Amino acid sequence: MYNLRQYLRRQYFYLSTIPNLFRLHEMSFFRKYLKIRGNDRILDVACGIGVYANRLAKRAACVVGFDLSYNNIAIANHIRKDNTFFYCGNAEEICHPNNSFDIVISICAIEHFNDSKKSIAEMFRVLKPGGQLLVTVDSLENINSREFIEFHRKFCLVQKYYTVGTVRKELEAVGFEIRTIKPILVSPFSATMCKFAFKIMKWPMLFGMYSLLAYQLTLILDKFSSDRNSGIIIAVYALKTKE
Ligand SMILES: C[S@@+](CC[C@H](N)C(=O)[O-])C[C@H]1O[C@@H](n2cnc3c(N)ncnc32)[C@H](O)[C@@H]1O
Repeated sequence: MYNLRQYLRRQYFYLSTIPNLFRLHEMSFFRKYLKIRGNDRILDVACGIGVYANRLAKRAACVVGFDLSYNNIAIANHIRKDNTFFYCGNAEEICHPNNSFDIVISICAIEHFNDSKKSIAEMFRVLKPGGQLLVTVDSLENINSREFIEFHRKFCLVQKYYTVGTVRKELEAVGFEIRTIKPILVSPFSATMCKFAFKIMKWPMLFGMYSLLAYQLTLILDKFSSDRNSGIIIAVYALKTKE
């Protein structure tokens, strides 16, 4: 009985995290840029509870995900697919050999690491030459409320916020060749909708419904926004073109 209750709780927790305004935008970036072949091995750095790893596993040979949080990995292992594998690990010391993955992803994660530069160098090391990297980072550059940024920093345990320039610099410093770098949720109205999203995040059903609606609206508003250089998130697609 206890196991069933725990199973249902974890399933509910996992499913309730899927319709999420930020994730919907990130997923759309994935679909647009990431080219996955059936025999690809993918590494998800700081995979959280494994939402992205499970999604990508449908199209790849296998997805390996790791995270510092034991609780996240417990949930990820609970709902894992046959070809997804999860373990507790540190992004600053990735325990895989050089050139061992075709694709590395790290979603809304590097801004949480103590040493982002070390972890980016590790991602470069484990990626095969010609391999693809997809990262997203929190930016909040289009939010002008210091109060909200401080709330967000504490709520999400962010170590530092990125701009297009700073994320480009850190990735290029280790040798990545950036193909696309794109601020997401750029319009002032999208920024306001994001702020509201944080207010209702504690009610997963409401947040889920809001996210589905807000996603469509923010897509349209961002298309017509005059300022596309700063956003809530920055998404990057890059390649390891040299060793
Ligand atoms: C905002 S969550 C994103 C999780 C996941 N990528 C997603 O989008 O669902 C940030 C994650 O980074 C993890 N994390 C923080 N520092 C880490 C480190 N040094 N190594 C591995 N994971 C880390 C946290 O445990 C947390 O799960």
